[in-house]
Amino acid sequence: MGRVQDKVVLITGGGSGIGAASAKLLAKEGAQVIITGRTQEKLDNVKADNDQIHTIQQDVTKAEDWDRVITEIKEKYGHLDGLVNNAGITGPEEGSIEDLTDETFYQIIDTNIYSVYKGMQVAIPLMREAGKGSIVNISSTSGLVGTPDAAAYGASKFAVRGLTQSAALELVDDHIRVNSVHPGVVETEIRLFEEVVETTPMKRVGKAEEIAYLVLYLISDESTFSTGAAFTADGGYTAK
Ligand SMILES: NC(=O)c1ccc[n+]([C@@H]2O[C@H](COP(=O)([O-])OP(=O)(O)OC[C@H]3O[C@@H](n4cnc5c(N)ncnc54)[C@H](O)[C@@H]3O)[C@@H](O)[C@H]2O)c1
Repeated sequence: MGRVQDKVVLITGGGSGIGAASAKLLAKEGAQVIITGRTQEKLDNVKADNDQIHTIQQDVTKAEDWDRVITEIKEKYGHLDGLVNNAGITGPEEGSIEDLTDETFYQIIDTNIYSVYKGMQVAIPLMREAGKGSIVNISSTSGLVGTPDAAAYGASKFAVRGLTQSAALELVDDHIRVNSVHPGVVETEIRLFEEVVETTPMKRVGKAEEIAYLVLYLISDESTFSTGAAFTADGGYTAK
């Protein structure tokens, strides 16, 4: 028996980094994992020959993509046990607030906030049918403390925290738990904040797998008393 045996779990942005590591770990622990993302080739590489990983192409900023993904899951599995709202971007060259362009600002807001709101909105009815569920929203340490030269990213990740708390309270009677995960700097495709590494007490970046274990715990029934909570995995960054 795996820790998430037979659970049906949807992970957005599963073609790389934290999403891919979470997909592999949850599949290893018995879940049927559906990974989504814009590039089919990246999803296929993560799936490889793993029968428990399934792929659906999706742009998380598009409502019609969300409707299609949820319809497909409903038809194939009949229910959904877990949703990991993981897809996200940092501004390519966000810079200071004075340098920030409206285009970058709205791109970050759309990808990092809208996707989390929309994902929860379409997943909740499927989870309610099952009588329970677990939603994990991937925020950041930038959703707990300020991040200079990344104000839009920081604002988006604070918003993920707010969405998480509101949803947790709305859904408590439905036995749907909603928690946020706040990674510190993690070695993935997203650019590294070298100055943040220097100020991380552990003096290193995290591995995607170290975040995946937190996701696994929150999707599993081991975490049934946790909702509306913020879980950090940041090498001590926010402990200062
Ligand atoms: N890497 C870090 O240091 C770090 C730190 C804190 C939080 N995070 C958060 O972790 C999450 C995962 O990031 P990661 O570090 O694994 O980086 P990543 O770039 O490897 O993963 C993000 C994934 O989201 C996908 N994505 C982006 N926009 C999308 C869209 N519109 N539709 C569908 N998919 C889309 C990307 O293609 C990518 O596969 C993000 O929400 C990120 O903000 C990362």
